[in-house]
Amino acid sequence: MRYDDNFKELCAALEGAGAFLVVEDAKGRVNAMTIGWAQLGVIWGEPIMSVLVRPSRHTFDMLKTATHFSVCVPRSGELKKELAFCGTKSGREYDKLRVCGLKLKDGAVKGVKYLDGCALVYQCAMYGASGLSREALSPQALAKYYQPGEVPHTLYFGKIIKAEHFK
Ligand SMILES: Cc1cc2nc3c(=O)[nH]c(=O)nc-3n(C[C@H](O)[C@H](O)[C@H](O)COP(=O)(O)O)c2cc1C
Repeated sequence: MRYDDNFKELCAALEGAGAFLVVEDAKGRVNAMTIGWAQLGVIWGEPIMSVLVRPSRHTFDMLKTATHFSVCVPRSGELKKELAFCGTKSGREYDKLRVCGLKLKDGAVKGVKYLDGCALVYQCAMYGASGLSREALSPQALAKYYQPGEVPHTLYFGKIIKAEHFK
């Protein structure tokens, strides 16, 4: 599919139970965390998926050495328990994929894996990252989403190398 096909389905998942952000680190360890914040569009003349990850997440540490990531969107109403588990438990304490029985597939290139059984899969090559600064955020966003003094999310920009829709 084109990267922007099924945009509504992506947004419905982000507004609902979430999607999986799957990251493989330099040692080949793979973790999945649930995300509700992501953006799809065009930057630097490329189709880009950006995801936002708090510094406290295990995924944040893994992204330090990751060359790619994937965003995997279940069909509406599916994998809800798995999304809840991957959105509340950390890869520091659990092998979440094993506990959830989620199966990995090899992506188009080395360094990217995705989850079997999802409706939409966006395979992304890391294209840049930028930490949000407290100064750049509105007082409303700061008050609603961050503790006093907490470092906000980092934005990771992924160039979409393959977007797939599985029936
Ligand atoms: C529906 C939902 C959406 C979430 N969205 C995000 C997000 O966009 N960014 C983020 O940093 N954490 C988000 N979280 C929280 C992480 O998924 C959660 O802290 C997870 O346990 C982190 O896993 P990790 O430590 O293995 O990386 C979300 C959780 C849920 C349940």
